[in-house]
Amino acid sequence: MIVTAIIPAAGLGLRLKSAIPKPLVRIGAKPILMHTLKALSKNRYIQHIIVAVPKDTMNDFETVVKKNKIGKKIKLIPGGETRRESVENCLRSVPSKSDTVLIHDAVRPFITEELIATLLEEVRNNPAVICGVPVKATIKRVNPSTWFDYAHHRPLGASGLSGECLSGFVKKTIKRDALWEIQTPQVFKKNLLLKAYARCKDSFVTDDAALVEELGVKVKIIQGSYFNIKITTPEDLVFAKAIMDAGYA
Ligand code: C5P
Repeated sequence: MIVTAIIPAAGLGLRLKSAIPKPLVRIGAKPILMHTLKALSKNRYIQHIIVAVPKDTMNDFETVVKKNKIGKKIKLIPGGETRRESVENCLRSVPSKSDTVLIHDAVRPFITEELIATLLEEVRNNPAVICGVPVKATIKRVNPSTWFDYAHHRPLGASGLSGECLSGFVKKTIKRDALWEIQTPQVFKKNLLLKAYARCKDSFVTDDAALVEELGVKVKIIQGSYFNIKITTPEDLVFAKAIMDAGYA
C-alpha cells in the first residue's frame, strides 16, 4: 500500500476572524498545520503529503513548513475557490504509483497516529473508510425560510446563516440513535475516489465520502475521537488550547 495524504488548507477561515490563514494560527508553540502534519508524517505507509494552500499566501506556508521540519517532504500546491477544487488540485498531483489516498482537513490538529493506522488497516479490505463520533446532542431540522435575526428584528432569508442571533421554526426532531458526526481522515482506494470526483459534480461538497456514496459504494465508518475537533470559529481555539494543555495532544 502506497498512500498519498491530501491536506486541504486553502480555506479563507472567515468564521475564525483571524488576520492570518487559519492553518497558520498557533496552538501552543506551533501553527495548526504543523500539529496536523506531525501525526501524518510518522505513518510508514504515507509516502507523499500534498497540501493545498491559498495562492496568495503560498510564501507564508512555505516558510512555516521549512522552519518546522517534520521529517517528510511536503508538496504545497495552490488551492481553489472551494474545498472541492482544492482537493481536485491535489488529486492531479498524486503520484501514479500511489494506490490509496487519505484526505484530512488541515484544521483538525488532534488526529492520532493510532487513528491513522486503524483507517489504513481497514482500507485494505474496504474501498472507502471514514471516521466519526456518535452524536451526543439532540438534532432538529429548522425550516430555512423562517430564519430571523432576533436581535435586529429582520428576516435573514434561506441563505442567511451569517447572523449570530439566528432564530427560526422547528420542522422536525431527528432520531439521534443512528446519527454520527463525520470527521477526517477519510481513506479511499485512489481509483474509486478519482471516479467519484469525475462523476459527481456537486461544487460545494464538504465531505469526500459523500461523493463515493453517490456511486452506491458502501462506506465503512469507524469511531474517531471527540478530541478530533475541527477548528472553525474563535471558540474552537479555546477548546484546542484546553485539549493541548490537558495533554491529549
Ligand atoms: O470551511 P471548512 O472549515 O469546512 O474547511 C475544511 C477544510 O477545507 C479546511 O482545512 C480548509 O482550509 C479547506 N479548504 C480548502 N479550500 C477551500 C476551502 C476550504 O482547502 N477553498
